[in-house]
This record gives sequence, C-alpha cells and structure tokens, in this order.
Amino acid sequence: MDNFVFHNPTKLIFGRGQLESLRTEAPVYGKKVLLVYGGGSIKRSGLYDKVVAILREIGAEVTELPGVEPNPRLSTVHRGVDLCKENAIELVLAVGGGSVLDCAKAIAVGAKYDGDMWDFAERKAAPKAALPLGTVLTMAATGSEMNGNSVITNEATMEKLGWGSKLAYPAFSILDPEHTASLPKEQTVYGMVDIMSHVFEHYFHHTTNTPLQDEFCESLLRTVIETAPKLAADLENYDYRETILLCGTMALNGVLNMGYSGDWATHNIEHAVSAVYDIPHGGGLAILFPNWMKYNLQRDVLRFKRLAINVFHVDPAGKSDEAVALEGIEALRTFWSSIGAPGRLADYGIDDSQLEAMADKAVRFGSFGNFAVLDKQDVLEIYRMSL
Ligand code: NZQ
Ligand code: ZN
Repeated sequence: MDNFVFHNPTKLIFGRGQLESLRTEAPVYGKKVLLVYGGGSIKRSGLYDKVVAILREIGAEVTELPGVEPNPRLSTVHRGVDLCKENAIELVLAVGGGSVLDCAKAIAVGAKYDGDMWDFAERKAAPKAALPLGTVLTMAATGSEMNGNSVITNEATMEKLGWGSKLAYPAFSILDPEHTASLPKEQTVYGMVDIMSHVFEHYFHHTTNTPLQDEFCESLLRTVIETAPKLAADLENYDYRETILLCGTMALNGVLNMGYSGDWATHNIEHAVSAVYDIPHGGGLAILFPNWMKYNLQRDVLRFKRLAINVFHVDPAGKSDEAVALEGIEALRTFWSSIGAPGRLADYGIDDSQLEAMADKAVRFGSFGNFAVLDKQDVLEIYRMSL
C-alpha cells in the first residue's frame, strides 16, 4: 500500500423518510437557498413539492435553478453563479442525479470566484472557497453525493472535463431509496454500469499488498451483479434500490481506494465521447470498458484472471491464464448486455467520422491512465474496437 490520508467530510443521511432531516440540516448554513434541479423528474415524482414544503416551513428564502441537463453545461453553471451572487445565496441545494449535483458543485465554487469557473476544469486555477452544498440524490450512479468531483460540459468548445476539490464535497447528502424508484429502466441500468465501472477503475492497479481493498472491490461488484437483474425486472423494489444506492456511494467515496491510485483512463475516454455525442455516461462506459480491458490484458494477465474467477465465477480448470482472463471480459460483456446496456458505439449511431476529434479531447492534458498509460494511438485503437 501507499501512505494515505482519508478524510471524507460529507454527512451521509441514508434511508426511508430521511428527507425530514432537511429541516435541521439546511438551517445550519443560512436561510437563502439556491434549489438546483433537472428537467422535471422531481416534479413528476412529487419530490419537488416535498422539498419546497420543508424549505417553506423552516422559513428559507428559495431561489430556483431548474433545467440542469444530463451532462450539465457550463452555461447553466454560469446562470447558477449569477443567481448566487444576485441573491446572496448561503446554501446550494441540489435535488436530482449526478448531473444536478455536479452542476451544483460547480456553482458552489463559482459563486466564490471572481473569474470563470471553467478555469478550475482547465487546471488554470484551484478553488479557494465555496458555498456550502447539500444534496438530495435521486439516482444511484456517480457517487457525486459523497465525493469532491464534478464533470462539466463546455458546449461552446465541445469539451467535457472533470475537476475536483476538497471544497466541493457536499456538507450533507440525503439518500432515500424511494427517491430513486421512479428512475426508468434505461437510466437504472446506466447507473449500475457506472457503479461497476468506478470499481473497475480502482481495481486495476499495480500497487502491492492491497488484500482488503481488492476484496472490497470484488464484493461490491458481486453485489451489483447479483442485484442488477432483479432490480431491472422489478424497478420499484425498495430492497434492491437500497442495495444499489449504497453500492453507488461506496464505489466512489474514497473508501475502496485507500492506499493506492486507480486507473481512470476509461472515464477519460468516455468523457471525450459524450462531449461530442452527448450520450449517457453509463452507456458509453458499457461499450468502452470491455475493450479497454481487452486492449490492456497483457499489462497484468493475472489481475484479469483474478477478476474472472472471483467476480464472474469462471472455472479456470485446464485453461491458460489468458483464456480465463478473456472469458471474464466476455462474461462482463454478456452480463451488461443481459440487463440492457449497449455494446457498440454503433448502438448510438456513432461511426468512425469523429474518432480523431474524440481522441484529441481525451489527450488534452497528455498521456493518461495509471494501470496502463495511454496515448492518442491507444485511444484510437480502443475506439476502433468499440465501433
Ligand atoms: O433531469 P431530470 O428530469 O431530473 O432527469 C434525469 C436525467 O434525465 C433522470 N432522473 C434522475 N433521477 C430520476 C430521473 N428520472 C426519474 N426518476 C428519478 N428518480 O435521469 C437522467 C440522467 O440523470 P443524470 O443526473 O445525468 O445521471 P447520472 O447520475 O448518471 O449523472 C451523469 C453525469 O455525472 C458525471 C457524468 O459524466 C455525467 O455528466 N459523472 C460524475 C462523477 C462524479 N461527480 O463523481 C463521476 C462519474 O464517473 C461521472 O463521470
Ligand atoms: Zn462514472
């Protein structure tokens, strides 16, 4: 293991009926609240009415920023920052999925910065202050509810960049599995692919003596694999929603990767695709991850073999290490397609016309990836394998 410091400041408030705690959590930060939400799902589900009723009862002065897009846009962040400055906002409250949360994080740091928040995404500056952020999560996927990361799309330049800061961790996050019950099957599947992908990003590393971390990763993957088909067939089942919701948070809140750094190349490769084609993040990962695995198999065949045996229950008897490893990757493809995830870029109508442009975006900050360092040619090859 490498030396590490673990410090996750987010107060996680999990379970049925926990929205009630908004009554006591929000006033800690002040009365002037910016309520950030997406394209209308929280109005249809009734969550909006419940949140607004609580805010009204505690005497909050609410300013609203509706309409945050999936793959949230920089122009929406700018609107939110202006609203914060005009209304002297004291708390940013995000109610929605990862996109809403990521947008709210960007607003929270942008509101305390004189320049353009995009400077943080471009690594030209680092946040020095932020408004406090609270979240009410409606979709299990990104882990944004308990981490300091955010991904924003600059629609003018067609770039989608992740950034992070310890100032961007939510102060509190309220997770009630019932709030995720209205999520359609397609998005539910994308969320589960994203959760598994976060674990894969951790799992592929070369650090030695990480037995507990590796077991944590494998048990999380097995839990999602066992629950995903049941949830896909029974979308309002509370227990399945609860299990997946906790998996989503645990997959990317820093607990799994104590003492080592994960790879994160596939996320970078996917963000370049969704920057150009605006496809769902989880859908892109389902297409790209098995191909990243196949492409990088020789970097550590035994690691892939271990995944195949411990997570996909591949029987190794009489097979070479490479054959077992490849069987594991095929089992992943089969599993994702069995729950309805896409398998090829063509499933989104993506052909080879923009591969160069996407690869250029992926290498914007140079070669990347820790388990396997990739350059532009590697990225192009993985895109070609994914057509
Ligand atoms: O906009 P609304 O109407 O709310 O609808 C959303 C949206 O259309 C809908 N939805 C969410 N909860 C719902 C619901 N519909 C019905 N019932 C509910 N309970 O689902 C659609 C997708 O939502 P979105 O927030 O975009 O999904 P997700 O949570 O997967 O977030 C994706 C974004 O997060 C970034 C991705 O790149 C992408 O931009 N990521 C953020 C990360 C982070 N902050 O740590 C890490 C991830 O790897 C990821 O890159
Ligand atoms: Zn992700």
